[in-house]
Amino acid sequence: MSVFYKEENNIGTITFDQPDSKVNVLNSATLLTLDKMLDDLKNKSLKVLIIQSAKKDIFIAGADIKEIENITEHADGKSKAQAGQRVMDKIEDLPYPTVAVIDGVALGGGCELALACRYRVMTFNDRIRIGLPEVNLGFVPGFGGTYRLPRLVGLQQALKMIVSASPINSSAAFKCGLADRLYPTVGLSERVAEFVEEIASQPNKRIFKLVALKGLPAFLEKNPLGQMVVYKETIKSIQKATKGFYPAPLKAVEVIRKTLYLPREHALDIESSAFADLAITSISKNLVSLFYLTEKYKKLTVPGAENVKPMPIAKGAVIGAGIMGGGIAQLFSDRGVWARLKDINQDAIAKGLKAAYDVYAQAMKRKKAKPYDVAAKMAMISGTVDYSGFASVDIAIEAVVENMDVKKKVFAEVSNVLSDKAILASNTSSLSVTEMARVSKDPSRVIGFHFFNPVHRMPLIEIITTEYTSQQTLVTTLDFAKKLGKTPVIVKDAPGFLVNRILLGYINEAGRLLDEGGSITSIDRFATNFGMPMGPFTLSDEVGLDVGVKVLHILETGLGPRFKPSRIFDEVLPKKLLGKKSGKGFYIHGKERVVNPEVQALVKTGAGVSEEESIERMMFVMINEAAMILQEKVVDGPDAVDIGMIMGTGFPPFRGGLLRYADSMGIDKLVEAMEKLEARFKDGRFKPCAYILDLKNQGRKFYN
Ligand code: NAI
Repeated sequence: MSVFYKEENNIGTITFDQPDSKVNVLNSATLLTLDKMLDDLKNKSLKVLIIQSAKKDIFIAGADIKEIENITEHADGKSKAQAGQRVMDKIEDLPYPTVAVIDGVALGGGCELALACRYRVMTFNDRIRIGLPEVNLGFVPGFGGTYRLPRLVGLQQALKMIVSASPINSSAAFKCGLADRLYPTVGLSERVAEFVEEIASQPNKRIFKLVALKGLPAFLEKNPLGQMVVYKETIKSIQKATKGFYPAPLKAVEVIRKTLYLPREHALDIESSAFADLAITSISKNLVSLFYLTEKYKKLTVPGAENVKPMPIAKGAVIGAGIMGGGIAQLFSDRGVWARLKDINQDAIAKGLKAAYDVYAQAMKRKKAKPYDVAAKMAMISGTVDYSGFASVDIAIEAVVENMDVKKKVFAEVSNVLSDKAILASNTSSLSVTEMARVSKDPSRVIGFHFFNPVHRMPLIEIITTEYTSQQTLVTTLDFAKKLGKTPVIVKDAPGFLVNRILLGYINEAGRLLDEGGSITSIDRFATNFGMPMGPFTLSDEVGLDVGVKVLHILETGLGPRFKPSRIFDEVLPKKLLGKKSGKGFYIHGKERVVNPEVQALVKTGAGVSEEESIERMMFVMINEAAMILQEKVVDGPDAVDIGMIMGTGFPPFRGGLLRYADSMGIDKLVEAMEKLEARFKDGRFKPCAYILDLKNQGRKFYN
């Protein structure tokens, strides 16, 4: 049992308390119990019914995602939604006042249950998040959320909450009318009792008014013309943000538009059909699997090191105050870790400090940070040109230029000034961490800690282990990555590690496509049409052509000729067209970005390769590389590849990840198409690697 009923002095209380779990979810069994309970309750003449949770910081976390994941038939989806809707209706129809008492997370079905109550009281608990994030999983709310939320908080606020999938805190809920009262958590039951007396004295009246809008929002809210403007603008912004790849937010708008003036029964019927339409799509299945993947990596542990406790990290050092060093120092300070920033001269340090400040300045501009907080956080970063202060840090991260000799020199020096507990990490994007470990005093405390650019925005960190890395070092670094709010993947030291190795294959293949004709913009467009956040040439301009080609050479040396830079890269590089940082690359980066005719002139005329083949080739080289990574056990499974590609490169989440995409094609088809290309190019780059052939022969997929 996970839901209990109690009655005292004519006040009923329903308490959610799922056994052996930190959270409450609305699964079929709980809904059924609740449904029966409500049949009894409807015949009572209670003063008030209270609905609450016994869990700390949780009201109800949502419907059971596992059950939704298993929906494959429309009829099943519809009936699951209807089962939830029926319960919510029964709550709404009770003949006495109902109060949801919310002191924690109320998402999806949890929020919908609260919406079905006549009143919602919340606390100042900063863990409270209430909202309808369903579109993040590729479907729309299905337990009456699209019907009740706009009626309670207004059309504009409801659309904002449902379409953005962003839950709000209790003070925002109070402001928009979603919460009727806010109380401190301490003494909550006494406050609720007072509230109950208040509402029980006028049982047939809703005693709180809707929050009144003013000005333009008020105009837009009420009249049909204004509402049309609201729908149109919402659709426009969804299309801009999702490029049409995610149907759920658009469907949510459609459902609300159709149902805003319909009676409940009819409106809910439209909602449950829309839910079922979406819940069975592969996009939704991919987004659900990504949800699980993200949860898994948030809680990632080191197998076999369950008894190793992470060491606390309060102070850090960053060596090299460039783009990355400045960004890392900013992140440290933002997360309350002291940062000692070292470079070779004061000018370089000033640049690093400015890079850190610029991140905060942006946040202040967007009203996401307050000047006094920023001042306090910036004060946690101090600059130095020597190693003073290094003896007391818990971790030092090297982010100097990508040059092995320089890095080795730094490693030898720094490992001598650190305490004998401190960890020494490198932010290298492609060089051997093992080599760096060998020149340091204690290789067991050396590890790779590879951030992505820009540090404050990119969620991924690759944690690179060598044969020397101790479990203590790995466990502590993993814990630290989580403390920094990043998603960590653990990768063995190998050329290009995980993400860059796969990504560089894609960029290089784009170069080869261009060698065969076509245009820079069309190849970029093919990639964005597929769902990549930017095309390969745009990406190459962002990263810098010098950096890209350098890494290609490192990969060529380490992994073979498939990474030999394509002709176009070899011809563009000597012209010093480095990309954004030099103002020109494949594009000219002025006020408006235009194709650089100098580079396009190097491309032979002709239509170029078709969109279909272009995508196949760019994807196949990545899939093949990822399979080799699995074969070499650089990472422990397809999950790591998919989370790495999504979090590190923005590989389209709706496709579930690179290897889920490969699975969706079918391994037989994949092998057949790759072999056809191999027969044409005969250079081995499309030759399915042993790992893929094994999958085919055993009739398996990357995921089973
Ligand atoms: P950068 O060129 O912007 O900064 C390097 C800084 O290191 C400069 O300020 C330089 O003065 C300083 N430096 C050089 N030798 C030093 C020494 N002996 N002691 C102290 N400081 C020294 O380089 P960036 O882009 O920040 O890259 C740094 C590292 O991060 C490289 O290993 C790079 O591969 C890696 N990385 C870079 C990414 C990027 O997108 N830029 C992404 C991920 C990793």
